[in-house]
Amino acid sequence: MGISPHSLIRRLSFLLAALLLTALSSAEEEIENQVSSLLRRMTLEEKAGQMTQLTLGAVSSSEASSENPEAHEFDTDKLRHALINKHVGSILNVHNVAFSIKQWNELLSEIQTVATKETRLKIPILYGIDSVHGANYVREGTLFPHNLGLAATRNRLLVERCHAVTALETRSAGIPWNFGPSLDIGRQPLWSRYVETFGEDVYITRVMAEAAIRGLQGSSLSSPKSVAATAKHFLAYSLPASGHDRTQTLLPEHDLREYFLPPFTTAIEQGVQAIMVNSGEVNGIPVHASHEMLSKLLREELKFDGVIVSDWEDVKKLHNLHRVAPDLKEAVRIAVHAGIDMCMAPYDFHFSNNLIKLVEEGILPESRLDESVRRILRMKFSLGLFDNPVLPASTAGEIGSEEAHETSLQAARESLVLLKNEGVLPLERKGQILLTGPGCRSLAALHGSWSYTWQGTDEAAYPEGLETILQSFNNGHGRENVLWARGAQWDGSTDFDYAMNKARNADVVVCVLAEKPSTETPGNIPDLSMPDNQLRLVRRLATGKPLILIVLGNRPRLITEIAGHCHAIIYAGHPGPHGGKALYELLTGQFNPSGRLPFTYPRHPNSLLTYDHKHSDSVGPDKETPGFNPLYEFGHGLSYTSFTFSDLKLNSSTLTKEDDIILSVKVTNTGSRRGKETVEVFTRDLFASITPSVKRLRAFRQVELEAGEAKNVTLKIPVKELAYHGLENAPVIEPGEFDVMVGKLTERIRVK
Ligand code: BGC
Repeated sequence: MGISPHSLIRRLSFLLAALLLTALSSAEEEIENQVSSLLRRMTLEEKAGQMTQLTLGAVSSSEASSENPEAHEFDTDKLRHALINKHVGSILNVHNVAFSIKQWNELLSEIQTVATKETRLKIPILYGIDSVHGANYVREGTLFPHNLGLAATRNRLLVERCHAVTALETRSAGIPWNFGPSLDIGRQPLWSRYVETFGEDVYITRVMAEAAIRGLQGSSLSSPKSVAATAKHFLAYSLPASGHDRTQTLLPEHDLREYFLPPFTTAIEQGVQAIMVNSGEVNGIPVHASHEMLSKLLREELKFDGVIVSDWEDVKKLHNLHRVAPDLKEAVRIAVHAGIDMCMAPYDFHFSNNLIKLVEEGILPESRLDESVRRILRMKFSLGLFDNPVLPASTAGEIGSEEAHETSLQAARESLVLLKNEGVLPLERKGQILLTGPGCRSLAALHGSWSYTWQGTDEAAYPEGLETILQSFNNGHGRENVLWARGAQWDGSTDFDYAMNKARNADVVVCVLAEKPSTETPGNIPDLSMPDNQLRLVRRLATGKPLILIVLGNRPRLITEIAGHCHAIIYAGHPGPHGGKALYELLTGQFNPSGRLPFTYPRHPNSLLTYDHKHSDSVGPDKETPGFNPLYEFGHGLSYTSFTFSDLKLNSSTLTKEDDIILSVKVTNTGSRRGKETVEVFTRDLFASITPSVKRLRAFRQVELEAGEAKNVTLKIPVKELAYHGLENAPVIEPGEFDVMVGKLTERIRVK
């Protein structure tokens, strides 16, 4: 009997997959052999050095600056001392300001020449950088919206593409290791790194983690288009009780595992190469000191075998900040015992010096160092650094291409969330527009932190040719039709009268409020409200003329008292270099907005609940005053068309834990223009031993429809995804009923 073409294809693909697996495992085996043979030849000092990471500034003499970006020079004595005498394995960071691609290549060549020619074992340096939203420390790099904006797109393929560009552009600079993506969950809106998160939801963060890591690491780490990714910051960094960066998180283990752990589990499944540790403390234990978290949970339970890297100076801080170690030697012992492989020292040799002592004194076994060094060397081999220490064999080198910028523009468009529209948008492309507010003439407000400098506020460091919102409006609307008045500034000052005079001649007022970009400690705030001078500006502008509010910033600053005065509101976060153009296009209807809030926009400063809160949180003092009453709900986002959901159908109303829920829903575009809708499926566990959330997002899918068009959208949710972290400290699905909800439609299932 002959073989059908179908089964022939199947057999061939099995064969191919088997061949690929064999090739992969033999490549892995070869790497293991190379690592073992190198490790056997290493001295104790060389091992301790491999585990040390210094910042570029520690081996430099003159600093680059925005005025003089070419000024960077190595202190060759310091560089050679660090690499040759101290055997340092890794360097990170920029020295003050983003370098050009040419500078990066020269800098990396200089470092790698010393490492691979002058050191005894010729081990290349592993260079790491924060490419947080694009290759933001490469002057020619393409920047994208921050993660919060990417989450608002709900577009996983687009998020993967943005990260693939980031990988290619970072690697083209010669840098093979990225400290991202941030997988901290944004459940504390005061936190200064909120915009670096994918928002408050666990499922969205998991989906975006997968997309980001796939984009960064590609199919082969040694490719010129890939970098090693780092999931950060393990664990529960983003929920400081004070709202301030690097302060204590208080969290029951159940919540830690239910909300904060899953994105890291996903990252590990996706093959993430490194994990960076939370600089703060959880329930009184600094995470850098936590054997429980780093060794028991991350290594033993989650089986992570990549590199655990400390955050900035955090081993030292076990002594001088957290005070769990009376001296630095004890701090090093605690951190290494806890499980770190590499210490971002980053200025000196306290780590390796003490590590050597600890082994010599028999306090730490040398075999513990071997484990860490093995992981670090494995990463260096996998990245192909021994063959090509600076650039992979064929460097792609296409930085800042038109295609990359088109991807960034697309991401900016899809990241914008139209929160309110009382019939004023889209605007006609004529008439006079007044632009006012601190965000409209600021590149920093569009880009946010981690843009050419750490805080992103030094605009002299930005490359030429970027457009502010004002410039984009001038280009799109004609300079003669755009009026401009600053109105209010970041230093608290105001110029309301000038703005009001201009407003008299305008047909429409567009007010761009923005908090000053920030990250980490410099971004700590005591109050979530939008700064008072900015709120007052909007109140003054509320004269009855169409008033459109654009909100830029790091986190959802409160706008409750002015929202009612505005006819339209757009949440833009930090949309990146093409934010201005995208905003003008949105306002004038050149595309149809589809962004959805990845967080709950709070109404009041002390009501910071997430959408997946408990039922008891929903109870208000009386019927008229609900307990949960945000300004805008998670998932909210308007379009210039309208959609309805109908015919919600499930494959079965009774399912076992091994089944899948297959759900279909009809989506109809009931408006008059083409648009994209995101179908979001929530479930509600009706009764559970640990109080269930009111709802949890379990799946989403986007569908694009012409006016009047309808489509059935099908989604699959494995029943096991409905599990929660139960009383026995393990995921559990208790038999019972669940509601499955899309929009206002609900179907009930029973899980046996
Ligand atoms: C941040 C990390 C970052 C590291 C290196 C730290 O201050 O917390 O997210 O990767 O610096 O720049």
